[in-house]
Amino acid sequence: MSTLHKIKGFADLFAPESDTFTVMEQRARDIFSRYGCQEIRLPLVEKTELFARSIGEETDVVQKEMYTFLDRKNRSLTLRPEATAGVVRAFIENKIYAHNPVAKLFTCGPMFRYERPQKGRMRQFHQINVEVLGTDAPQADAELMFMVWSYLRELGLNKLSMEVNSLGCRTCRPVFHQQLTRFLDGLDHAQLCEDCQKRSSTNPLRVLDCKVSRCKELVREAPRIHDSLCPACREHFTIVLDILDMAGLAYVHNPCLVRGLDYYQRTTFEVVSTDIGAQSSVAGGGRYDGLVRQLGGPDLPGLGFACGMERLALLLENMGSSRLDFFLAVLDEQALNKAMIIAQHLRDKGFAGEVSFEARSVKSLLRQANKLGVKTCLLLGPQELEKDQILVKDMETGAQKAVGQNDLEQALGWQGR
Ligand code: HAM
Repeated sequence: MSTLHKIKGFADLFAPESDTFTVMEQRARDIFSRYGCQEIRLPLVEKTELFARSIGEETDVVQKEMYTFLDRKNRSLTLRPEATAGVVRAFIENKIYAHNPVAKLFTCGPMFRYERPQKGRMRQFHQINVEVLGTDAPQADAELMFMVWSYLRELGLNKLSMEVNSLGCRTCRPVFHQQLTRFLDGLDHAQLCEDCQKRSSTNPLRVLDCKVSRCKELVREAPRIHDSLCPACREHFTIVLDILDMAGLAYVHNPCLVRGLDYYQRTTFEVVSTDIGAQSSVAGGGRYDGLVRQLGGPDLPGLGFACGMERLALLLENMGSSRLDFFLAVLDEQALNKAMIIAQHLRDKGFAGEVSFEARSVKSLLRQANKLGVKTCLLLGPQELEKDQILVKDMETGAQKAVGQNDLEQALGWQGR
């Protein structure tokens, strides 16, 4: 019978990569809780309308990348392409704002986008996500950038750059929109890439951050949104940058940083790595005042970011530590059951270990212990069984000694975990 294969752009994760994912999530939980974030877990599937109304009908994500299907009652559902829309939906539906003036929510898990797979770009990928709802203080924007920066630094990453921009608000963006459209109308459209020819009329801002070099060249002289910001947006952005300056967080003001989702207003940012090739954005986010209202909630502001775990994993060394403290090697069939009892006792004390489920030669068992990468191999044969002992072998030095089965923990000098 033919074997079945996974879907293109989807991955099976084994150790040590899966250990790296666990460590990334754990550190995120620890670090983000220092800022008052609480973890939430949300559905992977939502009504399609939620994404169309939040991310924007004209975005690449909604137009081309969603996994959308009809359920058995002909309702259109979508595998979430990102987390923000679901978090905001849950925030409104559960009236979190009623008892929490500023909610800081953390969530992580798989997202789905039908993109062309390449290094650092998957169809099922994982994000670590933070959303802050209920404050329009520019200090919250800066705090969010501190959060993502500290997290990435504590993971040990340093070849990173923080790019920031302001996209203005509902007052000043339309003015810029007009200026940009006029500029784009003056270009020879045939020179733009196919996507940008369409974007010029549907979503002109996106032309600004197109990665195609011909388009980059053409928009070099385009008007800058910074010059059109209203006084309130200008002040907001200045305060954010002042705080970053005071904290010594080196950033680059990238006036073309637009981001691919339509809900952003004012501050946007992206953390870019110089080390992983084309898919260099490891985290991105910004402010989305207006989204809560747009999705039927009260008029509350919001902001957030997401880190791409696959891209972080490309930059990180294997972060998993050796999983096992011991390997209990059984040299004789008769010792098998006793070995299970000894191993269980050690596990109840907090140690991690495996038993060889069959009796084999010392040589083959030590080879197995080596493969497992354990520091200690415990050997149990007929002689040890008779004397209620066990042989303790240090796999690094090769030294071994017999100890009483009841003295095992002490003899090993282990401190219970
Ligand atoms: P995004 O820029 O679309 O933003 O995605 C955030 C991060 O997810 C990217 O910087 C990248 O590291 C990772 N990512 C995106 N697509 C893929 C993919 N196909 N394969 C691997 N990694 C990928 C958002 O999703 C917003 N919801 C972020 C946000 C939260 N804004 C406010 N709150």
